Amino acid sequence: MTLLEAIKARHSVRQFTERPIEPEKVALLQKEVERINAESGLHFQLLTEEPVAFSSKLAHYGKFRNVRNYFAIIGRKSEENNEKAGYFGEELVLLAQTLGLNTCWVGLTYKKNPDVLHIEKDEHVICLIALGYGENQGVLHRSKPFEKVATSEHEMPEWFRNGVEAALLAPTALNQQKFRITLRADNSVEFSKGWGFYTATDLGIIKKHFEIGAQGGGK
Ligand SMILES: Cc1cc2nc3c(=O)[nH]c(=O)nc-3n(C[C@H](O)[C@H](O)[C@H](O)COP(=O)(O)O)c2cc1C
Repeated sequence: MTLLEAIKARHSVRQFTERPIEPEKVALLQKEVERINAESGLHFQLLTEEPVAFSSKLAHYGKFRNVRNYFAIIGRKSEENNEKAGYFGEELVLLAQTLGLNTCWVGLTYKKNPDVLHIEKDEHVICLIALGYGENQGVLHRSKPFEKVATSEHEMPEWFRNGVEAALLAPTALNQQKFRITLRADNSVEFSKGWGFYTATDLGIIKKHFEIGAQGGGK
């Protein structure tokens, strides 16, 4: 499965089966976490067979069931880090999808487990990504129309269209899709975010999807 196929196949999944993630897949994901930590300056952690974070009433209220594996995204408080969390976190989400796993970004409905998370004094948990074998594959989200999120100063090239289409398939908090993508006359692409909950993290995710969809166009 290519990353573009993973974008099309991915939907949030909140209920998981008991099937553990195979050690070779855990090792692959862990290796990717280490690469991302070195590149981003963030502090991602992969937790497996850890049921505490999603054992609260809040998690059940949020429709989560049987979440025992997750990525915790930890870093210093800044808008830049919130966006990076989205950009690099989505790399893990799409890799997981190619491995046959399912995911869901989680900003609110979890409990921090201090016994397993390594959080430095000046850091906090930006969000989690639930991970595992889903009971289902999720469903396609409702989406804003293309014209509501994309504008262009000249005729839209194919790569730009493909990038925006991939961005519209991205997960965003509350499915808010509060972003805009603009193609300038010089073929540079500008991304902007609206106001709201987790819009910086959403924007990082959008940039990752656009990059994969546009397949190098516009660079
Ligand atoms: C930054 C972020 C935070 C999210 N937080 C939650 C959450 O706390 N609880 C939840 O059930 N879903 C959460 N989601 C998942 C969104 O609701 C979901 O991505 C959106 O409805 C689009 O659906 P899809 O992911 O199936 O395409 C979050 C998504 C993002 C990107």
